[in-house]
Amino acid sequence: MVASMHDANRSSPESLEITRPDDWHLHLRDGAMLARVVPPTARRFGRAIVMPNLVPAVTTVAGALAYRERILAACPDDADFEPLMTLYLTDDTPVSEIEAAAMSPHVAGVKVYPRGATTHSSEGVSDLSRLGSVLEALASTGLPLLVHGESTAPDCDVFDRERVYLEETLSPVIDRYPALRVVFEHITTQEAAAFVREAPPRVAATITPQHLLLNRNAIFAGGLRPHHYCLPVLKREGDRRALVAAATSGDPSFFLGTDSAPHPRAAKETDCGCAGIYSAPVALEAYAEAFASAGALERLEGFASHFGADFYGVPRNAGRVRLVAQPWSPPDSEGEGGSALRVFLGGETLRYRVVD
Ligand code: DOR
Ligand code: ZN
Repeated sequence: MVASMHDANRSSPESLEITRPDDWHLHLRDGAMLARVVPPTARRFGRAIVMPNLVPAVTTVAGALAYRERILAACPDDADFEPLMTLYLTDDTPVSEIEAAAMSPHVAGVKVYPRGATTHSSEGVSDLSRLGSVLEALASTGLPLLVHGESTAPDCDVFDRERVYLEETLSPVIDRYPALRVVFEHITTQEAAAFVREAPPRVAATITPQHLLLNRNAIFAGGLRPHHYCLPVLKREGDRRALVAAATSGDPSFFLGTDSAPHPRAAKETDCGCAGIYSAPVALEAYAEAFASAGALERLEGFASHFGADFYGVPRNAGRVRLVAQPWSPPDSEGEGGSALRVFLGGETLRYRVVD
């Protein structure tokens, strides 16, 4: 049972048409997995910010452009989908690479993974505050810095990592570089939501469907639920409610980023399972569920289809998508055996369905 389904059921429209949405935070992987996971996103979303945490990581513009070609080759022929590429920041990224990225029409941001924070982050940044010339280059070019905001201090409690990173690292960097544009990715706490709400418009945040619909009890509901494990980890109910309030507030600083992160079932259901929730096939419907539970479906379009494009300085999409009130149940899994992908909310009943 998803947490938001405990909320009062407010009246909701029979159908809703919105501008074609974009996904401002997505993992597509590479090779055979890429071919499996591109179509669900390409069918629904106009564009997606594609995360660079491959092995090896996408650290150069040349690497990002080659990856972009592989993504386009995996798109269904009739899809109208544009991947927006990102570079993976390392301690050694040269300023010239940042400048080249800013010049490329296909690179939309630079991602910082604190070293050791999450999947494939071993080449990530050891101390963001020491990358002065890179931060200056980002600030002067206007290329956004996309931040996985979690402290990696070994003694930091896993539920405090986002708050500590915000206090110790992100907030000081935002203060020191007044022109730096920042997306605080997949925020999970009331502290992060309040920070972004009060920050200037150059600071924005993405919010995932799982952090709007679930709290940390979901990880332990009747037993250990590895498919509800993602990073940053789900937080308390009070945090979930603060995120719902932010997403449905109409504040353009908050926009859609699924963080859909596929891992084969065998890599999740094991001794040391991977972090990541595969939501792409149900993402828009999952957000609709969260907004409907809050009685705020009329605010979905801004969050899903307007505010991210406005922040990144690209036109809003021309196409439209329609959601109808038609209860349905997503499939539990895609694929067979250990290579199957468990789909977020598989087997649950969702109120809205996208109709083509
Ligand atoms: O849950 C997550 N999965 N969080 C991340 O930061 C990375 C992602 C992945 O790539 O699997
Ligand atoms: Zn991610």
